Amino acid sequence: MTTFSDQILLVTGASGHLGRLAVEELLARGATRIVAGTRDPAKLADLAEKGVEVRQLDFDDKASLASGFDGVDRVLIISTDGVGRRTEQQTKAIAAAKSAGVKHMVYTSAPAARPNPDAGLNPEHFWTEVAIAQSGLDFTVLRNHMYAENNLMDAGHVIASGQLFGLIGDRGTAYVTRADAARTAAGALLQGEGKTIHDVTGPAAVTNQERAALYAELSGKPVSVIAITPPELKSGMLGAGLPEFVADLLVAFQNDAVIGYHGVVSDVVERFSGRKPQALAAFLADNRAALGL
Ligand SMILES: NC(=O)c1ccc[n+]([C@@H]2O[C@H](COP(=O)([O-])OP(=O)(O)OC[C@H]3O[C@@H](n4cnc5c(N)ncnc54)[C@H](OP(=O)(O)O)[C@@H]3O)[C@@H](O)[C@H]2O)c1
Repeated sequence: MTTFSDQILLVTGASGHLGRLAVEELLARGATRIVAGTRDPAKLADLAEKGVEVRQLDFDDKASLASGFDGVDRVLIISTDGVGRRTEQQTKAIAAAKSAGVKHMVYTSAPAARPNPDAGLNPEHFWTEVAIAQSGLDFTVLRNHMYAENNLMDAGHVIASGQLFGLIGDRGTAYVTRADAARTAAGALLQGEGKTIHDVTGPAAVTNQERAALYAELSGKPVSVIAITPPELKSGMLGAGLPEFVADLLVAFQNDAVIGYHGVVSDVVERFSGRKPQALAAFLADNRAALGL
């Protein structure tokens, strides 16, 4: 596979969890001309010491967009956390990259990106993918599946209560660790060619029943799945104090697992990172403390 490790490679959002890991992977894989774009360059002083050029790059700031992509050959655009504003932010970044002469763009999207308004965060990813395609640049779109890390947010509560609430008809989620997603993104920046879209997944789709069994095994306590409807799930989340838009998003994620969109399994992590993705069981075992065990 061709590698572009001698070209100027930019990672946006480089002080975020995924961005920092991607830059570290580029360094580990021998890239020599890395640019790290971030809203807050001070957070990346350690990377600057390792020879990375750190640039102010904020998709909300016209001046930084105008200069942030100067001289760059290939860019990894990490989707921002500005939910509700991302299409606008990222479309501006794509236009700026194109004006600056970038040749290849990698973007971190989501599984089954589509415009349907009831599809959670998908519309913003879909419209960003459209903007990338319309730019005429070559691209590697990485549809990152659910991070394994997302489980750490409620696993402690699930284990303590012995109950895992999930939608009836769940067909599983191919959780991918953030570290595997970052290695894959760095690999795509180094090697992606042409115009392609990929699902970035863990090694297997894990159902709610299987996840409950993993928690039970790790904790030594029984954990049952309570299968419920979308309205029941939403009202339970509202009752637990979650804001309505968060409850709607979480129901939409689970609904995609019922449809089967989250159960797709690919070999993309291995193809771009050279390593097999970590299974959820191994990830949870490595993170026992975060599960309260
Ligand atoms: N697949 C999943 O399960 C899942 C879960 C959570 C998030 N995500 C998505 O994946 C992305 C990366 O995940 P993460 O774990 O690294 O999230 P994170 O640590 O919360 O990082 C947020 C990212 O957004 C960037 N950002 C925010 N505002 C920006 C702006 N105005 N201009 C440019 N960049 C901006 C940040 O860059 P700087 O701070 O360096 O400027 C940072 O890279 C998230 O932003 C989100 O879109 C996916």
